[in-house]
Amino acid sequence: MSRKLLIVDDQEENLRSLALGFSRSEYEIMTALGGRLAIGALKENDIDVVICDLKMPEVDGMEVLRHCAGMTPPVAVVMVTAFGTIESAVEALKEGAFDYITKPVNIKELRIVVEKAFEHQDLRRENIYLHSQINRKYGFEGMIGETAEMQRIFEKARLIAKSKTTILIQGESGTGKDLLARAIHYNSPRAKYPFIPIHCAALPETLMESELFGHEKGAFTGAIAQKDGLFGLANGGTAFLDEISEIPTAVQVKLLRILETKEFMRVGGVKSLQTDIRVICATNKNLAEEVEEGRFREDLFYRLNVISFTIPPLRNRRADIPLLVKAFVDEFARENKKEIKSITKRALAHLTAYHWPGNIRELRNCIESIVVFALGAEIDEDILPDHIRPIEKTEAGYMFNAPMGQTLDAVEMKYIQETLMSVEGNRTRASEILGISRRTLQRKLKDLGIENG
Ligand SMILES: Nc1ncnc2c1ncn2[C@@H]1O[C@H](COP(=O)(O)OP(=O)(O)OP(=O)(O)O)[C@@H](O)[C@H]1O
Ligand SMILES: [Mg+2]
Repeated sequence: MSRKLLIVDDQEENLRSLALGFSRSEYEIMTALGGRLAIGALKENDIDVVICDLKMPEVDGMEVLRHCAGMTPPVAVVMVTAFGTIESAVEALKEGAFDYITKPVNIKELRIVVEKAFEHQDLRRENIYLHSQINRKYGFEGMIGETAEMQRIFEKARLIAKSKTTILIQGESGTGKDLLARAIHYNSPRAKYPFIPIHCAALPETLMESELFGHEKGAFTGAIAQKDGLFGLANGGTAFLDEISEIPTAVQVKLLRILETKEFMRVGGVKSLQTDIRVICATNKNLAEEVEEGRFREDLFYRLNVISFTIPPLRNRRADIPLLVKAFVDEFARENKKEIKSITKRALAHLTAYHWPGNIRELRNCIESIVVFALGAEIDEDILPDHIRPIEKTEAGYMFNAPMGQTLDAVEMKYIQETLMSVEGNRTRASEILGISRRTLQRKLKDLGIENG
């Protein structure tokens, strides 16, 4: 793809001499006589870099700059300012100009600045591209996961996002129920309307009704004005009922009514109100069991459970861990302005072997603290928290020690991984040490989720 440079000036002879200065470059050169023509050219061509004179009649350089900064992706602008107008140059930088040079233009200097601007644009393009590739390949609106289970979830979510059906999301704490609910909303035709979450477990019964349905003035002590609740506020959008298993029976009845009739009444009200909402619910309990135990209404359960997602715990899809780790390391390195270039194989193996009872939330928090404390450009096993690193090098060789209170599966899994690592991944030797057949080892790796399968 050729790189396009647009030169903007209100004087023809300046345009000509600047264009001449780039005649031997490999860029495709375009010129615009004045700001108005420049904006037209920007709209019609995929321009990467603009050289623009600041002072022009009518549409001036600042306006061209603002236009460039507002494009997606933004176009880089090199501003040409008159000698001695440093304030306007600074202002241009503030508005997002890539750089500026002063008149009289030193063409050599300009060439260097322009080349830098192109490099900057290439990098930006590449980043945008990589980001969209990662999203397309592995994720859904920032949700990461390359295992078959997660891919199926993303695919189903994309499909049903368009519809209006009620959705139930189940999964242990920290598996991404919140994130999935939002992703579905933002991929739905309702995206421009509100997504309103309500945390059912955090509210006492009396308050919950008013939070959900709103109340009329004077409905109860303290109701000094009429107030909209979730179902009023989320009109047109999505209502997210988190911890749905915690809503009291009385509210369950009212919720059922809304789902069936799309109508509700404010607390203390007499008028039925219409609402157009999609309901997404989430719970970290098994709702079917709650029904069996008599804690949750069966009819409501069936109403909610039209489409359901069960996000598997992280320990059952360990093949996703390396990708998540990389994404979180990048995120927190950027946030903390640290240059972390790599994470060692052993460190990654420990992170993959750990059983993550708090799922992705725990992994994310763990990576954040690792990045904050990291000193060098590499993350190695020595900076991992102790509970994640069961192996220790002593004079007698490698010792395996696991903290108490873990499941047999978790310990077995770590032991297998450590053994594999000690023989550099040689499965035949690992199975010899472990006293199991190669086939059994293969099956265990798959069952424990170490291997994608
Ligand atoms: N697939 C994923 N990719 C990237 N980040 C994720 C993914 N799933 C979850 N996260 C992150 O993990 C954290 C926990 O996710 P979230 O709040 O959605 O979990 P949850 O299931 O709603 O937990 P809880 O039951 O405790 O409310 C968030 O910071 C979220 O951004
Ligand atoms: Mg949540």
